[in-house]
Amino acid sequence: MRILGIETSCDETAASVVTGTVDADGTPHGIIASNIVLSQKDHAAFGGVVPEIAARAHVEALDQIIQAAMTKAECDFTDLDAIAVTAGPGLIGGLIVGLMGAKAVSIAHDVPLIGVSHLEGHALTVRLSDGLSFPYLLLLVSGGHTQMLLVSGLGKYQRLGTTIDDALGEAFDKTAKLLGLGYPGGPAVERAALLGDKNRIPLPRPLYGKMPPNFSFSGLKTALRQEAQKLADISPLTEQDVADLCASFQNAVSDVLDDRVSRAWKLAADMSGIEDMLAGKPLPIVVAGGVAANKTIRAQLQTTAEKLGTNLVAAPMALCGDNAAMIAWAGLEHFNAGHIDDLSLAPRPRWPLDKDAQPLVGRGKAGPKV
Ligand code: KG4
Ligand code: ZN
Repeated sequence: MRILGIETSCDETAASVVTGTVDADGTPHGIIASNIVLSQKDHAAFGGVVPEIAARAHVEALDQIIQAAMTKAECDFTDLDAIAVTAGPGLIGGLIVGLMGAKAVSIAHDVPLIGVSHLEGHALTVRLSDGLSFPYLLLLVSGGHTQMLLVSGLGKYQRLGTTIDDALGEAFDKTAKLLGLGYPGGPAVERAALLGDKNRIPLPRPLYGKMPPNFSFSGLKTALRQEAQKLADISPLTEQDVADLCASFQNAVSDVLDDRVSRAWKLAADMSGIEDMLAGKPLPIVVAGGVAANKTIRAQLQTTAEKLGTNLVAAPMALCGDNAAMIAWAGLEHFNAGHIDDLSLAPRPRWPLDKDAQPLVGRGKAGPKV
């Protein structure tokens, strides 16, 4: 199968051609023929993504990005088996641009259309990059989402934990903004932390030890602001202060991830039917999404996995942030399963992976009873 993927849900305009198959036993085989990503730069001045600017930039760039992906993959539209497009969740303006582009290609070249969930793209990335079989425990950490899910098949996602307030990427971005490090914040905090003392600033480990294994990052961000203020009250923050704050923040996040992931893994490994699927092997841990690019977090999860006696499969660096290869691959899996959409396909700003799980964000300060 050869699939064109299109991604426009946030501030990356991306197109990719992926080829591959999925064996009858579910083993995936994928090859990325092209993977073109344009990261919009115009949002940095605003300290975050401006939806209106993002949508306009997608309109300007999408045609060329699709053409570049087709050229790099040395294929013609008539060579495609299907076209997969992110239909949600995400910013509605961007989603509409991507959908209209995909529909235009679908009509003009008579190629089947498949609407893909952006989160499912992140969730299935390691099947494309590492040929990983189901099941696995997924830690999905991005700018808008922080969840742990037991992934036991295509469309089979069981949420075990989620954030009750901010997403982890959002916490990185807010920390960066507070310390004047610019946007996007994750890579800036990671860079600054390199020279920092991770044990200098006392910070909380929210929800540590609590069940179910949910996350909370808004209190951590507030504590960091208070600690930064305490230092600034004595004298203006030095580069070393900023480095120590960033390193201490990453250290608190690492501790929280270690605890939350360990608990979710034990829950997942004990779930009915999982042992049979694993046939004696331990349940792998997968990390994906923009924050998965963070080397401190990757190293922590490696240690966590070793402690649990299993292996970590981290999405490759190039496929952590938003891209269209993951969308093409998710489309390929759906096409393989016989799922296609018609031209009534509509954007979905909300589209949870686990349809039965209740949203926890916005339930008030206390969050759920844990
Ligand atoms: O998956 P992604 O590209 O977009 C969404 O679907 O949200 O994730 C973007 C998020 C941003 O919050 C960004 O600051 C964060 O991922 N991020 C990082 C790093 N690189 C990107 N966070 C921590 N460390 C990084 N190296
Ligand atoms: Zn994403």
